[in-house]
Amino acid sequence: MSPRAPKLGRGVALVGAGMSRFGAFPDKTSRDLFVEAFHAMVKSVDKGIETGDIQALYVGNFSSDLFEGQGHIAPIVADWVGLVPKPATRVEDACSSGGVALREGIIAIASGIYDIVLVGGTEKMTNLPTERVTDTLAAASDTLYEGSCGFTFPGLYAAMATAYMAKYGASVEHFMKVGIKNHRNGALNPKAQFNKSIRDLMDSRIEKAKQKGEAVPDWRNEIDFLKDSKANPIVAWPMRLFDCSPITDGAACALLVAEDIAKDFCHDPIQILGTGQGSDHALHERQDLTTILAARTAAREAYDMAGVEPEDIAIAEVHDCFTIAELVAIEDLGFFKPGEAYKATEAGLTARDGSKPINTSGGLKSKGHPVGASGIGQVVEIWHQMRKEAGARQVQKDVNLALTHNVGATGGTCVVHIFGRR
Ligand code: COA
Repeated sequence: MSPRAPKLGRGVALVGAGMSRFGAFPDKTSRDLFVEAFHAMVKSVDKGIETGDIQALYVGNFSSDLFEGQGHIAPIVADWVGLVPKPATRVEDACSSGGVALREGIIAIASGIYDIVLVGGTEKMTNLPTERVTDTLAAASDTLYEGSCGFTFPGLYAAMATAYMAKYGASVEHFMKVGIKNHRNGALNPKAQFNKSIRDLMDSRIEKAKQKGEAVPDWRNEIDFLKDSKANPIVAWPMRLFDCSPITDGAACALLVAEDIAKDFCHDPIQILGTGQGSDHALHERQDLTTILAARTAAREAYDMAGVEPEDIAIAEVHDCFTIAELVAIEDLGFFKPGEAYKATEAGLTARDGSKPINTSGGLKSKGHPVGASGIGQVVEIWHQMRKEAGARQVQKDVNLALTHNVGATGGTCVVHIFGRR
């Protein structure tokens, strides 16, 4: 017997989304950030939502236990937003925890169990010094064969980057161009951790040097700045500081409802047209480090469910935890052929005014990457763009079909969602 193609048992709609500011907040816990995101989400629901009407919560969180010494975070955040005694479930799939929480919420409504579900994500990472954050994140690698041999996440993605360079002839400058683009977008996002373009950061360093009477760096453009090892040190070659997403505190929330009641909440609801999820072998076992099977699997499932193809997608938020990850993502999603993503980026096709805008929010690189929340943070951007509420970073074309792509670790998990209005 061949299994039937996956499809939703009934339609699911997105009727609200909001996030906390992403950044470093010494006085806030993951629960405080979740409350902030929840309030932003409630404010976004056109016709309002009574907290008591929400029937269940799925919350993505990678490791509140190790980051904050607080396990079992789901009932705690449920309590802080007034959901007790509703079921509250923590979802952990490394950096894709938020995206998988979204999928669990969709499945819960599609199955008919619930009509109104809150999905979210929260992570508080900046409590720990960088070395301990690095160790904590490395727990999401294959600790027997990767973490124990000294591999960190920058190191694992550096291996993917060198494989990509060797196979396709890309250079470090191509990675830098991904960072330049995403910081340009993040500069227009008031909730981003780094809401500054690389040009702004470069100019402010030059200004500082002048004010202090120090030697003024002779950077002519962003690439010069990024090639300067003092301004942009190597973390794990070829990944430098500005190739890495930062260490971030933040939370995000989205409200899902059954399609037949969506108009009770929202003037123009956004439908969930497709959801897909896949898995892959640990990085050290893969034949080819330049592609992620989980992403290709998740994308195909989501495209088939939605009845669309990559060329139909207007914009996408993809998992750019490192600059190389964005190039791999947009090839795995079928937006560009293998080995073509770096050329497309260089040609400006993925810029906000390009034919396939990618990471208009600033992406994980510039907006920030509070790991368990990032997948829902992507949904918040799609919500704003599809409603033409993205302010200065709003894309000019109509966005009728949009996609999110959220990766766990080096791609052991990937989840893809397609949003649309039919
Ligand atoms: N991109 C750009 N600038 C960054 C940055 C980043 N990712 N991270 C920090 N900075 C800036 C800080 O704002 C600070 O600037 P300032 O001197 O002008 O104030 C400076 O760099 C030093 O910051 P600091 O926090 O001391 O950096 P760090 O060396 O401790 O950490 C990394 C830098 C890259 C090691 C850290 O951000 C990191 O580990 N990132 C990857 C996280 C990760 O693996 N996530 C999971 C992915 S799967």
